[in-house]
Amino acid sequence: MQTTDNYMELTFPAHSQNEAFARVCAAAFAARLDCTIDELTDIKTAISEAVTNAIVHAYPARSGKVLLRGSINGNTVRFEIQDFGCGIENIEQAMQPFFSTGNSAERSGMGFTVMQSFMDTVAVHSQPGQGTVVRLEKTILSQNTECLIHA
Ligand SMILES: Nc1ncnc2c1ncn2[C@@H]1O[C@H](COP(=O)(O)OP(=O)(O)OP(=O)(O)O)[C@@H](O)[C@H]1O
Ligand SMILES: [Mg+2]
Repeated sequence: MQTTDNYMELTFPAHSQNEAFARVCAAAFAARLDCTIDELTDIKTAISEAVTNAIVHAYPARSGKVLLRGSINGNTVRFEIQDFGCGIENIEQAMQPFFSTGNSAERSGMGFTVMQSFMDTVAVHSQPGQGTVVRLEKTILSQNTECLIHA
């Protein structure tokens, strides 16, 4: 088991092209652990959903900043995706499958559900008018000798 403690921080504007950038950075960071391609795919998918939410929902009327923090402790990787946008009025409702305030042609209301199915822990803190922080955590169980990144 690797026990390298490490952390990272990344700040970028809430532009759609930065979703792929954030996803690749998160995967590269997590790849220090002995994870399988499936585990990396889980992490990339969850990061993608959380960052997309910050890009799509947080700043309806202006541009804004998204912060991605990562840390590794033992074989557990944690990420925080933070925005400083409109916030979420009712977090419990927002996390229900199929709940969405977005355009029904583009949004299915499954982002939080996807995060929950691919990560061990999903915690959401939000204040209307202040912004939102999504914390994602996953413990890497596998003992591989090789870790590949497919961004
Ligand atoms: N960072 C955020 N800032 C403000 N509101 C958010 C944020 N993240 C989520 N929400 C709210 O929570 C709802 C549910 O989010 P979720 O990701 O589950 O679904 P969605 O983004 O609407 O659709 P999908 O992710 O399937 O495209 C959103 O419709 C939005 O109202
Ligand atoms: Mg979403």
